[in-house]
Amino acid sequence: MLDSLTQQPPDALLALIKFYDADPRADKIDLGVGVYRTADGATPVFRAIKAAEQRLVDGQASKAYLGPEGDMGFVHALVPHVFGAAVPAEGRLDGMQTPGGTGAVRLALALAKKAGVKRVLMGTPSWPNHAQILADLGLELVAFDHSAPDGTCNMASLRAALAAAGEGDAVLLHGCCHNPTGIDYSPAQWDEIAQLVRDSGVLPVIDLAYQGLGEGMDEDAYGMRKVVSQMEEALVAYSCDKNFGLYRDRVGAFYMICKDAQATQRAVSNAAALARANWSMPPDHGGAAVRMVLEDEALTADWLAELDDMRSRIRQVRAKLAASSNAGGVDLTPYGRQQGMFAMLPVSKEQVQALREDHGIYMAASGRINVAGLTMGNIDKFVSSLAAVTG
Ligand SMILES: Cc1ncc(COP(=O)(O)O)c(C=O)c1O
Repeated sequence: MLDSLTQQPPDALLALIKFYDADPRADKIDLGVGVYRTADGATPVFRAIKAAEQRLVDGQASKAYLGPEGDMGFVHALVPHVFGAAVPAEGRLDGMQTPGGTGAVRLALALAKKAGVKRVLMGTPSWPNHAQILADLGLELVAFDHSAPDGTCNMASLRAALAAAGEGDAVLLHGCCHNPTGIDYSPAQWDEIAQLVRDSGVLPVIDLAYQGLGEGMDEDAYGMRKVVSQMEEALVAYSCDKNFGLYRDRVGAFYMICKDAQATQRAVSNAAALARANWSMPPDHGGAAVRMVLEDEALTADWLAELDDMRSRIRQVRAKLAASSNAGGVDLTPYGRQQGMFAMLPVSKEQVQALREDHGIYMAASGRINVAGLTMGNIDKFVSSLAAVTG
């Protein structure tokens, strides 16, 4: 039977790492894989996480099993940072720990399906795994255009999609730092979206994977908090892998907001059953380190300070890109208004290949770049190379 399986394409971004490593050019630039990089190209462990991990090693008394919900201390410690003043009334919110934001997205969509959702509205392009998870769960993807040609959100497309949707549908929205476009909704647009979602009766599922990497912890949660405050029901998938730099430790959380405490309890019991059947329980280490950071005022302050530095660097790179204004056929000014680590270049597959082969600049075939791969020292080369292939 296994012989009947057809070959699946390898993960293109992971394949790109191998090409990049093998390239001997000293001025090569890696804009591929989506991890934060310092100006020196490093993806360091946060100081606060290092300190917490040391305490864990010294103090952890047992590694006995937790339940499918993981470490609820971690899940609850995150709540004030994620929801701020928008925490729903007592009993309407609960959550569980998941293996990364991916596990949280998976669980959110699986629970939505169990609750009767059949179709999921989603702006495209999106993080490719969204469509893969939907397909794997047998949920129908109803695509609308996320962005307009001028580099802003395509509100008309979202409005039309919501107007044609109703009960039995869900809408999957990126909370901030949209991957891959970097094009986020403004607060005024979120206000409208919250109202539209409420009027349409669709279930909102919000994927918040980059809180703190756009404009700030509160600013980046504005839209999710707005939707949550307007709705009886909402699902939130959260990742700590970027804003705590824990990528390979797989740290995420899944929050359910329901009509009342009984409905929340039932939702949690269903999510726990789904988690049990999928991965039994999430890995503990990264979540335990995050919990330790969040339960210690000094470590929390240091985490937020380091996150501020990361965000400032990304914004500085974006500002310099925008100030370069033109690279051949590409207008770079919209990149200064966009948020987070990602941006889409309007380049063809051939131009992506020319950037790699002729200039040592590596990016996804779609033209998505990781802005954090740029530095004050290599932007000029990037802009002139882009001009050379597109001009
Ligand atoms: C929009 C979005 N959601 C979720 C994730 C999943 O993150 P994690 O590494 O925590 O699974 C990513 C990661 O790239 C992402 O871009």
